[in-house]
Amino acid sequence: MNDFVFQSPTRFVFGRGYADRIGGEVAALGAKRALLVYGGGSVVRTGLLARVTVSLDAAGVGYVELGGVRPNPEVGLVRKGIELARREQVDLVLAVGGGSVIDTSKAIAFGTSYQGDVWDFFMRKATIGACLPIACVLTIPAAGSEASGSCVISNDELGLKKGVNGDVFRPRVAVLDPEVTFTLPQYQTAAGATDIICHICERFFSTAGPVPVTDNICCGIIRAVMDAATTVIATPDDYDARATIMWSGTLAHNDLCGCGRSSAPTKRAGGWESHGLEHEISAHRPEVAHGAGLAVILPAWMRYVWRANTERFLAFAKGVFDVEPVDQTDEATEDAITYAIDELQRFLVSLGMPRTLGDLGLSQDEVDGWLQTLRQNKGERFGELRPLTMEDARAIYLSAF
Ligand code: NZQ
Ligand code: ZN
Repeated sequence: MNDFVFQSPTRFVFGRGYADRIGGEVAALGAKRALLVYGGGSVVRTGLLARVTVSLDAAGVGYVELGGVRPNPEVGLVRKGIELARREQVDLVLAVGGGSVIDTSKAIAFGTSYQGDVWDFFMRKATIGACLPIACVLTIPAAGSEASGSCVISNDELGLKKGVNGDVFRPRVAVLDPEVTFTLPQYQTAAGATDIICHICERFFSTAGPVPVTDNICCGIIRAVMDAATTVIATPDDYDARATIMWSGTLAHNDLCGCGRSSAPTKRAGGWESHGLEHEISAHRPEVAHGAGLAVILPAWMRYVWRANTERFLAFAKGVFDVEPVDQTDEATEDAITYAIDELQRFLVSLGMPRTLGDLGLSQDEVDGWLQTLRQNKGERFGELRPLTMEDARAIYLSAF
């Protein structure tokens, strides 16, 4: 087991009907006036936004609203939010939504006290310093931003989607109320489950050897998500299944699943190859849900790299699908690993996720554009289990059509 530093400072408030508790939670942080950030309208339609404002009123916390965050959020609205936060002198940013809303809130929170342009942080031209406290009411288990030290924002003008990492902007409190996820469309539920599974796989497939405690947590969460996702596709208001997915999404990305698997104690475990490849797709095509892109890229990446570390892939096959090679031959190893990858893809497709990039309406003509920004983001080589050159990346993209 490699050395690690694990920090998950967020207070998680998890339960049925708990969305109504947000006011008290925010007041307990000492906030007097919040910037209330939300997305394209689902929280208005479901009545959640009204519940949140009632709760804030009851707790004596003032607020100013910023709606309209789009999926794969853009820096333009972040800039607008920073101006609003300054003008209104808010002392906390409250996200009511999913990863896109929470990431927008994070960027506003660390951009408000910086005099330059917030995009500087994403271009590594500035280091994040002061940050307003962030709270959230999560509405979709997927990105794990409610607990993660990541913030991912797109810049349409530059065709870039970039992330920054830091512990200072992990939310101080996350209210997780599984009932608010009953309204999720099947496609978003499925994309979320895919992202959760992928966050675990990115860490599981690091080059560290077996780490039984972490590996069992990883495979156990993946199995739980697979069972629960199958249940909610048939029964969207199954509370326990929704709750299982919601908590899994948090644990998948608060770094618990990487303890002992990272190459340096304060580095996130794994090479994040599938995320690196997917982010270019949703950067150029914001209409592609991050999880849906991953549903195609993750199996394609696995098929391309498994020979580089058969031990890890056999551990995955055994831990998630209880499959082992029938004997010690290379052929049996390949059969077991291929079976596991096929099963994973079959499962994702069964939820309604695409099998190919063509299913997402993408064309091979777009690959060069993705590679251009991938090179800008990652350099000539990236990844860990099997470092990928730009030609490898091209081959993976093309294999996914
Ligand atoms: O915008 P509204 O109208 O609210 O609708 C949203 C949106 O269309 C809808 N939705 C959310 N909760 C709902 C609901 N509809 C009905 N009922 C509900 N309860 O779902 C759609 C997707 O929302 P979004 O926030 O975009 O989803 P997700 O949580 O998957 O976030 C995706 C973004 O997070 C980034 C992704 O790249 C992408 O930009 N990521 C952030 C990470 C992080 N910060 O740690 C890590 C991830 O790997 C990921 O990269
Ligand atoms: Zn993700």
